[in-house]
Amino acid sequence: MNILLLGSGGREHALAWKMTQSKQCSQLYIAPGNAGTSRHGINVSIGVNDFEAQKNFCLANNITLVVVGPEEPLVKGVYDFYKQDEALKHIIVIGPSAYGAQLEGSKAFSKKFMQRHNIPTAAYAEFDETNFEDGRKYIQQHSLPIVLKADGLAAGKGVVICYSRDEALKVFEEMIVHKQFGDASAKVVIEQFLSGIEVSVFVLTNGKDYKIIGHAKDYKRIGEGDTGPNTGGMGCVSPVPFVTPGFLAKVEETIIKPTVDGLHKEGVVYNGFIFFGLIKVENEPYVIEYNCRMGDPETEVVMPLLQNDLVALFLALDNDTLKNTTIDFDTRACCTVVAVSGGYPGDYEKNKTITGLASSFEEDTLVFHAGTLQQNEAVVTNGGRVLAVSAYGKDIQQAVTTSKKALEQISFEGMYFRRDIGYEFE
Ligand code: AMP
Ligand code: GLY
Repeated sequence: MNILLLGSGGREHALAWKMTQSKQCSQLYIAPGNAGTSRHGINVSIGVNDFEAQKNFCLANNITLVVVGPEEPLVKGVYDFYKQDEALKHIIVIGPSAYGAQLEGSKAFSKKFMQRHNIPTAAYAEFDETNFEDGRKYIQQHSLPIVLKADGLAAGKGVVICYSRDEALKVFEEMIVHKQFGDASAKVVIEQFLSGIEVSVFVLTNGKDYKIIGHAKDYKRIGEGDTGPNTGGMGCVSPVPFVTPGFLAKVEETIIKPTVDGLHKEGVVYNGFIFFGLIKVENEPYVIEYNCRMGDPETEVVMPLLQNDLVALFLALDNDTLKNTTIDFDTRACCTVVAVSGGYPGDYEKNKTITGLASSFEEDTLVFHAGTLQQNEAVVTNGGRVLAVSAYGKDIQQAVTTSKKALEQISFEGMYFRRDIGYEFE
């Protein structure tokens, strides 16, 4: 079959790498892709939100499966666009409907959903300009720290953890009155701060049945020792030592099953990934957030460890055989270490030539491209996160050592990566 993959990051390179290992993938197209995805298929210069252009492309190229990488097209209704079009509705789309994508696209929606289905999460209240004064009072009497979240998508910047009430009041006003994130902060969720260790669990679901396809711990801060500003993710490890079978069983029982059952009971159309962002507080898992897609860079460790044919799993979602499918995992550890442009997550320059990509890396190394662009013979930087170098190992430390060795052979002006990914699992 011909497959169209939407997106252009490390996640999409890892998905492209995985899907093209399937005998069922005849031709993969990636819109718009990056220099790495072009090694697995044909990049086409169509934007992830340009549904009309995608339609023309799908019809001209006999596409029968569309896999959606990032959240934005999902929240904007890419699934519904295909399903409501007579000429496209036969295409299998991997992703939720726009309604289901609100699990990520609206914090207020996801909190209400969790409340309805008794899914453990931080206590919260939601406010907008109609009850702004109530929100101020809520902050005044709330314990510290206190977490403020813009309701909608805010490019990863919509969550602020405030350590004083003055700061919280200021952030609250910025978001609601001064529309810091436009419509995305017209509504604000104010949440209890949970203290614990975070881990993410990934599920494939057709809104009725589900399978866990992996888990990972990511490292969000730019600096070593988890310091400095938040980023999209600087690295990941899997499996995570504290995710024992017992802990995972608890996550399934108290979080995953009630979520999928909740979607089913409410008739939510969902045919894709759920990313459960969890926090472990005294051995109990709580949901910090849902995402309606795979994580980046989590995909760069989850896909290497997943032994199933990914295209076959997508087809199983569609033909209702997911429940009869067994998921198999590689028994090794896997990590990914992300190389970023100098200045990231602040301003950074693009168009730096990347050298060393053709080096002979150690076996068990996978170089995934994130923000890269093929420019004639050269590969140049084209984003904040440039490469995600994954590696297998007998344990996390060995995997990280192999990733770092590969990164030592690669260079571009201003390149930076964290050398301490997985530091707590020595
Ligand atoms: P989110 O965009 O919801 O994933 O939030 C971004 C990050 O903020 C999370 O990965 C957590 O590190 C942190 N965070 C969000 N909500 C809470 C909370 N209730 N308690 C503690 N940390 C939180
Ligand atoms: N790495 C976090 C995310 O993909 O949202």
